[in-house]
Parts: sequence; structure tokens; C-alpha cells
Amino acid sequence: MGERSTEKFTGNFTQQEPIPDEAIEAAVAVMRSGRLHRYNVAPGELGEAALLEQEFAALTGAKYCLAVASGGYAMGCALRALGVGPGDKVLTNAFTLAPVPGAIASVGAVPVFVGVTEGLVIDLEDLAAKAGQADVLMLSHMRGHIVDMDALMALCDAHGIRVIEDCAHTMGGGWRGVPSGRHGVIACYSTQTYKHVNSGEGGFLISDDAELMARAVMLSGSYMLYERHLAAPEPEMFEQVKYDTPNVSGRMDNLRAAILRPQLRKLPEQVAAWNARYGVLEEGVRGTPGLQVVERSDGEGFVGSSIQFLLLDWDEARIAAVLARCAARGVELKWFGGAEPVAFTSRYDSWRYAPSAAMPATDRVLKGVVDMRIPLTFSLEDCALIARIIRAEVGAVWQANG
Ligand SMILES: Cc1ncc(COP(=O)(O)O)c(C=O)c1O
Repeated sequence: MGERSTEKFTGNFTQQEPIPDEAIEAAVAVMRSGRLHRYNVAPGELGEAALLEQEFAALTGAKYCLAVASGGYAMGCALRALGVGPGDKVLTNAFTLAPVPGAIASVGAVPVFVGVTEGLVIDLEDLAAKAGQADVLMLSHMRGHIVDMDALMALCDAHGIRVIEDCAHTMGGGWRGVPSGRHGVIACYSTQTYKHVNSGEGGFLISDDAELMARAVMLSGSYMLYERHLAAPEPEMFEQVKYDTPNVSGRMDNLRAAILRPQLRKLPEQVAAWNARYGVLEEGVRGTPGLQVVERSDGEGFVGSSIQFLLLDWDEARIAAVLARCAARGVELKWFGGAEPVAFTSRYDSWRYAPSAAMPATDRVLKGVVDMRIPLTFSLEDCALIARIIRAEVGAVWQANG
């Protein structure tokens, strides 16, 4: 007991795995060629960006795919392609991160925040209540929690709401066997370092809608070179949109695409590795007095690249004590309840450009959300140790103040 209570974790919560050798070699080949711009291809050459799009379309089962400069760019581009503009309202999750309302604000539109449940998914009752306020929903599968997509789509279809899926945290996941991103009219992914594949920065858009995707390709900065895409609509569709779709450059380049292609092939293996780690952590903290595990629903094919738990109705000082005690033992936890935005973590009332009506039920949940990254550089033993530390420190604070 004594020895265990002094155990410390010494791993790094922001250390991702190295880029696979195969990807490094592909990147070096692109650099040696000098042809980094996606449309700079030799005669007969297809180009890494175009091939990447073809492969991501195949992976998700989408008709079309566009690779872009970031996940945030993908979301802004999706909104523009849908015709969302200044003053329009867009429904979105109250529990998400800053790039999501930021993308809405980037087109001059106004976020309407929808509450979160204790399962950390969008509150469908609140969505139904607000459904009349907008005809687009930017649905963020925040931290990989996937709502009942059948119920959500039925609700949105009934209200004529078009759904953009933000799959920054669900690449490789799904709902009842349907890949995440295949329910809405268009979906956005991120390939930024902390996501499921890593090109530093980058993103994807997928859709089956030819007009939307032709617009997205034009928006991303394809000039009149769209025929060099392999997962884009037919040229005839571009004829219809090319004169009235502005260029808002945000292309993916061949270098990043080269880094990503081998990683996409490894994605199922990576998902299994994340879920094994998630399983150890979840079981390790389950049953800790005062701590509520976020239960996953049967339909959810999640990717456990992070884990959340709730310290529901704890006062701030006690939560702060848990975080400090865990930090002292090397375990970095983030808290969504803090009044001030910190590092990557902020919440809907931090975004003062997007005022919201009060949401007491959501505030109660957010005040209790504790969040932790699970980099794949952690072993299963590391995860067991981290869980023991969390269990001990939550338990100690709970008992002291119980
Ligand atoms: C929920 C969510 N959506 C979208 C993004 C945007 O991704 P990017 O950083 O590639 O712009 C992020 C990035 O952190 C995110 O966490």
C-alpha cells in the first residue's frame, strides 16, 4: 500500500509515436522531386494528395474526398459549400473545442449552442427544442463520443436540418457499423498531430453530394485544375459552380499527403491499440467512489484516443485538488469546468464572440468533466499505473471531504 501510494508516472502526455519509416521515405521522395504543390505533377504522375483522397474515400465509403490544410479549414469550407453566410445561425455542440465555433464565426455565422448529456453527447431534447432556429447543424463528435446517429438524423431530417459532422476525434470510429462521417451531408476530419493520423496540420472533407464537393474543391484553391483530382465529382459539375465559387485557399500538399498515406493503412491497428489502452484505464477507474465513468452505448464504435470521467457535483476546490495531486504524480488531467480557458481547453461561455443562453444542465456536466489524452506511446502497464493514481487521488480527496 505504502509503495503504491507513492508510485509516479513519468511518461509524456503530448508525445505521439514517430512517423512510420515508410511515410518518412515517401516524404523524402516528394522532397527530392521538388513537387510539393499538389497540382505540380510530372506527366502521368497522379500525385500524393490526389492518391490520399482516393484512399480516404475508399476507407470511409464516401464518393468524394478533398484533403485540405486543417480540420478547422475543412469545417469552414463545408459551411461555405453549404452556402452558410453572414448572420446565419448554425446549431453546434456546447461541449466542443474552440475551432468548431471558430469555423462558424469564420463565415460570419452565429453558433447556437446545444447542450451535452452525462454521456458527453449532444442532448437530443435540447436539439429538438432549438431545431427551429437554424437549418445547419455542425455536429462535433467531441472526444469521440458518438450520439445515437439514427435518432439524430431522424430529428434533423424531420426539421430539414443539414448535418456537417466534425469527426476530428472519430476518424476510424463508427455508429452501428457505419463509419463516422457517413451520416451527415458532409464530414470533416483533422490530421493534426494530436489526432488519429499525424501530418502536423491537415484535414479532410468527405461527401456523396457532387455539387457540395465541387464547391469545396473550388473553394480549397483548385483554380481550374480540378481534373487532377481522383476523388472529386465529374468535370461537368465544376462547369456549373466554377464561376460563382470563390477561392479560399487551404489545399493539402504532397508532402503531408505522403506522410499520411501509410498512416491511413495502419489506422485499424492504431484504433485497436487505443481501445486496448482505453479499456485498461476505464476498468482501472471504474467504481472509484465519487467518480462517474462515461458509459459508451452499444452502437458506438469509438476510438479511445482520450478518456473522460465525471466528478459530478464536486466543488471546484476539490476538483482542483484532484488535478493537483494527480499532476504531482505525473498524471496530466484537463478540466472543462475552469472559469478561464487553459491551453487547448475552453468551453462555450469562454467564446464571448458567440453569446449563449444559460444552460444549467450542461454547465453541471461541464463542471465535472475531467479529460485525459491517451498517446499511443503509453503502454498498457502505463495505463494501469495511471488508473491506480487517479483512483487513489480521487479517492483521497473524496474521503477527506466526504
Ligand atoms: C473537436 C475538434 N474539431 C475540430 C478541430 C480542428 O482541427 P485542426 O486543429 O486540424 O484545425 C479540432 C482540433 O483540435 C477539434 O478538437
